[in-house]
Amino acid sequence: MKHYCDFLIIGSGIAGLSYALKVAPHGRVIILTKSNLDETATHYAQGGIAAVMYDPDSYEKHIHDTIIAGAGLNNEKVVRFTIEESTERIKDLIEMGAMFDRNIEGDFDLAREGGHSEKRIFHHKDQTGAEIQRALTLQIREHPNITVLENYFAIEIITQHHLGVEITRRSPNITCYGAYVLNPNTGKVDTFISKLTLIATGGSGTVYGSTTNPVVATGDGVSIVYRAKGEVENMEFVQFHPTSLYSPGETPAFLITEAIRGAGAILKTIKGEEFMQKYDERASLAPRDIVARAIDSEMKLSGSDHVFLDARHLGKEKLLNHFPTIYAHCLSKGIDILRDMIPVVPAAHYQCGGIKIDEFGRNNIGNLYATGEVACSGLHGANRLASNSLLEAAVFSHRAAMHAIQAVHGVEQNINIPEWDSEGTVLNEEMVLITQTLRELNSIMSSYVGIVRSNLRLHRAFTRLNILYDETEELFKRSVVTKEICELRNMINVGYLIIRMAQDRKESRGLHYSLDYPPVK
Ligand code: FAD
Ligand code: SIN
Repeated sequence: MKHYCDFLIIGSGIAGLSYALKVAPHGRVIILTKSNLDETATHYAQGGIAAVMYDPDSYEKHIHDTIIAGAGLNNEKVVRFTIEESTERIKDLIEMGAMFDRNIEGDFDLAREGGHSEKRIFHHKDQTGAEIQRALTLQIREHPNITVLENYFAIEIITQHHLGVEITRRSPNITCYGAYVLNPNTGKVDTFISKLTLIATGGSGTVYGSTTNPVVATGDGVSIVYRAKGEVENMEFVQFHPTSLYSPGETPAFLITEAIRGAGAILKTIKGEEFMQKYDERASLAPRDIVARAIDSEMKLSGSDHVFLDARHLGKEKLLNHFPTIYAHCLSKGIDILRDMIPVVPAAHYQCGGIKIDEFGRNNIGNLYATGEVACSGLHGANRLASNSLLEAAVFSHRAAMHAIQAVHGVEQNINIPEWDSEGTVLNEEMVLITQTLRELNSIMSSYVGIVRSNLRLHRAFTRLNILYDETEELFKRSVVTKEICELRNMINVGYLIIRMAQDRKESRGLHYSLDYPPVK
């Protein structure tokens, strides 16, 4: 079956939906999402969205904090315009219906998080992402130009390769004509032909054994674009959030927002002693890479499976008002955060690298945009500052939309696209092959490509991953496409990119820490 539109959007988090609402007055929009519309990382965001609003904060301070966290690998021009546009994008979200908490004077109740020198985090209790997702979803559902297709899985973008032209990484003018997508109603692959395509598929945390990311975060967008010979960069910078709830077997790992440390909660060892001062003068409010490594080191020293976060002194009113989700979730696990310290452990959280984009969200593949966590804009450098992710998605989706509205007039829809070729495939009945390979991938990535790396660990990871790669490509060729085999293939591809880029980086910087290249003091 063929579908036609002006703007094809793959992904329904903040990046996809905010772009959709801006381009929709200018053409027909289709949003594809591989799960329900609101099953996204956006929905789970707790802490908030960073933006400059009041004195004594300033754009210069936020720019400075972002570059310090990013270990100087950020693109300074991108950092500057992203932060200078932050206030406008917050106003857009409010106009779209998102509500952020205010204090009794009626001003926004701004919170602070690690690495921020001022209070600048707009939040809705500890459910900021759910609030943004709610507001955007409401508008999307009512828009007459937008069609939402839930449980549709994008497999590949369509380029000249599918017209029989040989495409290599050096080919000029690679162009995207749309995407091949698994239709959940028929089990067949449909052809979506679009003038412009946005990849907004989010991150890839599920490549690791323990992650705060929802199950949809399988790195599909990066993998799809890399296979189509699009540029991808900085994949070695995987952010581990320092404080996920230590609750063995719980998937995804439940996040304990950094905002709780911003409010004064303190990290303590298994014996109840503070330790962060040993590692950084900003103590519990140091940037995430430093805090995650410090926790990793303390766990190794003590042989324990977790450390503690002590929020007891914050008091009932603060904890229940600002952090009701965390309070309720911990209580459901038998932990009363008013009386008990919270056991916490780092977990894979955010992909700083991704599809390489320019200042309007464009990749080297023509007619293709990417925004949100899937993209690498240059904002984060070697480590993302807390709450700069939702901001980046809002800023770049706006910029991409403004560009796309102009560009769409000059694009002819390519209608001579062949249907998906499924010749030679047979039914795949062996789910165990997929689940077992996924377990092996998770184990390789967590054991050898985690918070602390070395040449030997990366080499081991690469050798083992190669076996999984060969087996999975073989399986993919024989199988009728399913979401599961495609996701596995994409995750292995992302694992490969993380390892190869980590091997190429001969230094310790930001989130990439190698025992063979100790940081220069
Ligand atoms: P997502 O919101 O993840 O949406 C991705 C979409 O793509 C989903 O709809 C998914 O179904 C779809 N998709 C993926 N692959 C396919 C495919 N093959 N076919 C079709 N559809 C596909 N950041 C902050 O700035 N502040 C915070 O407080 C914060 N808290 C966080 C808390 C948690 C627990 C997590 C996990 C992340 C948090 N982050 C936070 C990070 C932030 O939430 C994400 O980076 C951001 O929401 C990503 O938005 P997105 O639109 O790019 O992707
Ligand atoms: C958190 O609330 O700690 C997550 C914030 C983020 O990932 O930016």
